[in-house]
Amino acid sequence: MGKIQTLGVLTGGGDCPGLNAVIRAVVKTAVNKYKINVVGIEDGFEGLIKPGKTRYLSEKDVEKILARGGTILGTTNRGNPFQYKVMRNGKVATLDYSDRVIKSLKKLGIDALVVIGGDGSLRIALDFFKKGVQAVGVPKTIDNDLEATEVTFGFDSAINTAKDAIDKLHDTAESHHRVIVVEVMGRNAGWIALEAGMAGGADIILVPEIPFDIEKVCHKIRQRDKAGMKYSIVVAAEGAAPLGGNAVFVHSNDPCAPERLGGIGALIANEVNRRTKHETRVTVLGHIQRGGSPTTFILYLFTAVFTTALITALRPGQSPPPVKTPSV
Ligand code: F6P
Repeated sequence: MGKIQTLGVLTGGGDCPGLNAVIRAVVKTAVNKYKINVVGIEDGFEGLIKPGKTRYLSEKDVEKILARGGTILGTTNRGNPFQYKVMRNGKVATLDYSDRVIKSLKKLGIDALVVIGGDGSLRIALDFFKKGVQAVGVPKTIDNDLEATEVTFGFDSAINTAKDAIDKLHDTAESHHRVIVVEVMGRNAGWIALEAGMAGGADIILVPEIPFDIEKVCHKIRQRDKAGMKYSIVVAAEGAAPLGGNAVFVHSNDPCAPERLGGIGALIANEVNRRTKHETRVTVLGHIQRGGSPTTFILYLFTAVFTTALITALRPGQSPPPVKTPSV
């Protein structure tokens, strides 16, 4: 990287706990340590397409946000500048606004970008990097589905939330002798279902990576019934699909909106009820998995590691100071 005087920071894609902690780390490291200005860009790359969506961030602006969920900059999971969707004469038109973004960066004097994002936003960052924009990607997503990243920001918090819900659902499932299907997020990855399900002692876990056989699900439930455990917890990732079938999507009236998974839990619950005659319920955890404070593990590990990575990026050729990191 060349000499950096101004850094831009944005959050893109679905929010998750820990975004504010990263924004704070960026500002504190850049402003305090290197006297570099930081421009906060609102709503992901949208903030570089539409006017009036940027502001300087001082240390005071990031006070007390360390443990706050969400993102003070706002975010969106739409608005890829390379494939920007707009309605034109009642039809969806896809436009390339990437040059407009580069123009905005120049106008704002931003020398490098810190993109806090998931697969979508980091791919966009890479495409801008290929067009000559200096960029650092910070991997965040509750889905934990980023290649070459062991644990993303947000994942640990999401599985804690999901595990907590599964624990509570166990209580009511047992009292009412019911089968409860818990639908968790994760898009096409089963990490949340697998880790929260295992930690929560789920009886059956269904992930997108392995198509499920509904008869085997029912068999397991009947077995538990026979053994005197007249309740079961099924954790299903939203992207799970039956053998020979497809994942389930939510219908949207907005033609510009990205596809959204959801509904497999209800289908499984109905089918289990039809085949086993067992009373069933479905709980969709939904966006509750994206909110709340980041866990201590995430706060420590990522603020420490990320701050070090940023220091390295801003000080080319020099080794970062040692950071004590727990082994993952
Ligand atoms: O990528 C994060 C995520 O929460 C996925 O797990 C989920 O499929 C999707 O975003 C939901 O998106 P939205 O916020 O648009 O409903």
